[in-house]
Amino acid sequence: MTTVDRRPDPPESPSEAPSEAGRERRARELEEWLAAVPALARELVAQENAPAEAGDGDPVRLESRLELRLGADGLATPAVLARLRSALAATPSSSSWRFVNQLFGGREPAGMAAEMLAVVPNVSMYTFKAAGAQILVERELLRHMARHAGLADAEGCFTPGGSIANLVALLLARNVASPESRDRGLGGERLAIYTSAEGHYSIPKNAGILGLGRDSVRRVPTDDVGRMDVGALAQKLAEDRARGVRPALINATAGTTVRGAFDPIRALAALAREYGAWLHVDGALGGSVVLCPARRELIDGVELADTFTWNPHKMMGVPLQCSVLLVARRGELTRSLDETAEYLFQSHEDDVNPGHRSIQCGRRNDALKLWAAWLRLGDRGWDERIQRQFALARLAAAKIAADPALELIEPPPSINVCFAVRGRDSAALCDWLDREGRLKIGYGTVAGRRVLRLVCVNPDLEESDLDAILDEIRAAASAVPAGGD
Ligand SMILES: Cc1ncc(COP(=O)(O)O)c(C=O)c1O
Repeated sequence: MTTVDRRPDPPESPSEAPSEAGRERRARELEEWLAAVPALARELVAQENAPAEAGDGDPVRLESRLELRLGADGLATPAVLARLRSALAATPSSSSWRFVNQLFGGREPAGMAAEMLAVVPNVSMYTFKAAGAQILVERELLRHMARHAGLADAEGCFTPGGSIANLVALLLARNVASPESRDRGLGGERLAIYTSAEGHYSIPKNAGILGLGRDSVRRVPTDDVGRMDVGALAQKLAEDRARGVRPALINATAGTTVRGAFDPIRALAALAREYGAWLHVDGALGGSVVLCPARRELIDGVELADTFTWNPHKMMGVPLQCSVLLVARRGELTRSLDETAEYLFQSHEDDVNPGHRSIQCGRRNDALKLWAAWLRLGDRGWDERIQRQFALARLAAAKIAADPALELIEPPPSINVCFAVRGRDSAALCDWLDREGRLKIGYGTVAGRRVLRLVCVNPDLEESDLDAILDEIRAAASAVPAGGD
């Protein structure tokens, strides 16, 4: 492919109707792209396991290497394609074995393909009039997911990520605890939110956004395996009630961000009932275990939740973003999110106009990719995928425990394996591996110690990949100075 820059043909004058020649030119350009995209995608997949180029870990050096500048003149398609290729080639791939940094990784091919196709019609998911069959696809998913969660009568919405799903859950709980708040704002009510010390940062962030105040969040201590301590929660609830503070929401984390631990939902549900608080289950990471009968006991009690966050873009390998909030009782979303908009809601029943139940107006289609992957795998395929993730985590843990230079912090509660290299600081190891372009892995704190977190979310990893990951970490340990734990 040549990369010669050439000024494109001048655009049509806006005052003139498009000419036949102009239309042909647009059609040719579309054809060029439709031919180029699969070839480029194939190229990127072929090279995704290679180490990053030296220097790409430094934003200044990377920026100087790439041609990113925008200008007044447009470029010809081949020149645009060349720039796209080099920017994408310098982008980490979360489907590479070298990427174990985050809670997503590995691709479901049908999901990727459907994501690429969803932008062809490019619809917005607020009304049936605008999005047609896509609304029905989304509705089928919500029904099927609700059944798996044991929330058969639930409604739901797709959100741009688990943090926003948690935001909507907090909003619903706030409006139930303080019914005037949607219209008049919080009028001096004192509400409290409870989450574990290891719960996700979106809980206090969302409390700040919603006017509850970050100080309304009680961080409940965890037990020695990272689950919320139920006795400590009961004590905080009683203290708040005695001070005239109303417990508004208890957040049970199903799969904590660092350790992958699951809070005891059923016990938390009993306390939520006793105190009249909303029970939210943040299953952004681990919610998908509802699809895995052998692991379902981890999330036992989710069927008692008022709201449930579930991110298919994590354990299910569907492209970002794909997150769902399920709401146990129909009507709650409309009560908190609906607005009148004559210019938008013009036809059909509310049931097929999800804009009434969404925090957004224009909303991208995150349903098609999940539906396609689900069609391909069926419920049974998800079960196998999740079992494979758990098996990889157990295998990684066994390899770590067998190496005297490494220290396994705990048997993995789910798919995150926390460990340390004896005599080395985990942050220094992660930085070195990233800077050298060898491996993307993160660190976190467990029981006051900074540890490496190996996330076994990519089921396509083989045992040899786990060996390669541990070899990279051993190489980093010889390169960084002694220090830390
Ligand atoms: C427990 C938990 N909740 C919520 C989130 C936020 O999800 P998202 O990144 O999709 O916003 C995360 C992300 O890692 C998480 O681990």
